[in-house]
Amino acid sequence: MRVGVVGFGNMGSAFAEGVSRKVGRENVITFDIDPARRDLALGRGFPVASDLKFLTEESQILIVAVKPKDLKAVFDTIKEGIGDRVVISVAAGVDIRTLKELSGTDRVVRLMPNINALVGRAVIAISFGEGVSEEEKDKLSDLLSACGKLYPLSEDLFDVFTAIAGSGPAFVMSFIEALALSGVLEGIPYERSLDIALETVAGTVELLKEKGGNPSEWVVRVTSPGGTTIEGLKVLEEKGFKGIVMECVRRTSEKARKLRG
Ligand SMILES: NC(=O)c1ccc[n+]([C@@H]2O[C@H](COP(=O)([O-])OP(=O)(O)OC[C@H]3O[C@@H](n4cnc5c(N)ncnc54)[C@H](OP(=O)(O)O)[C@@H]3O)[C@@H](O)[C@H]2O)c1
Repeated sequence: MRVGVVGFGNMGSAFAEGVSRKVGRENVITFDIDPARRDLALGRGFPVASDLKFLTEESQILIVAVKPKDLKAVFDTIKEGIGDRVVISVAAGVDIRTLKELSGTDRVVRLMPNINALVGRAVIAISFGEGVSEEEKDKLSDLLSACGKLYPLSEDLFDVFTAIAGSGPAFVMSFIEALALSGVLEGIPYERSLDIALETVAGTVELLKEKGGNPSEWVVRVTSPGGTTIEGLKVLEEKGFKGIVMECVRRTSEKARKLRG
């Protein structure tokens, strides 16, 4: 199976790496309008097509990873050659209906990945156009699972997914930064404090995933009566920590909806 990747930026390069683990590097053909990006793809061992039309001819599946504003130009160029190829888009906020209009096919797949794709750990919402068969859905899901974890989702939930998973890394980074600065405030050098914060967060995620249960059960387990943790938790409750996070996600989701128009 040959996969064409249009755009070799953050997402294109990450998806090229991911799918190459399934189909082999030689079967992932790339193209980017920017010569420096084409050189980068070549340097990483991916074939680079001379132009978009050639890339389309040579591929059975196309992953389009350009900015939403560039989608029209891409599809105007390749539309005639798409035929029965499946077109996968990672463009944020661009729905299946628009993808069908732009590409002229209903064999489209909409993905919403997050930046964690750069380390092969993307959290990806996926929705299929009606022209994709059940068997193809399974094969495509298997292919894309090499880039991260897939969450089949109806399109009306993409905005909140964008807020939790798409913007989520920025929120989690802010929390890690706050933990790290707390250490600095009390006298631990920044780099060391950041490392302590990072290991604490990473270990906590691993603990929860490995041992199961839900977060509130673990909160009870680490909170001894009259102890230190409950003092801190009380402050989080007083300042409305969970409410702040929920409002943050809701507002982000609303903004995603507004940007779609
Ligand atoms: N980055 C994220 O965290 C993230 C998360 C979710 C979804 N997405 C989506 O992923 C898509 C790509 O984002 P990105 O961050 O990977 O962008 P990016 O790093 O800018 O990569 C896009 C690449 O496509 C190239 N390009 C533009 N027009 C082209 C054309 N006609 N043919 C071939 N290549 C072309 C761009 O070149 P120029 O720079 O020269 O224009 C650029 O190198 C966007 O639609 C975005 O909404 C991104």
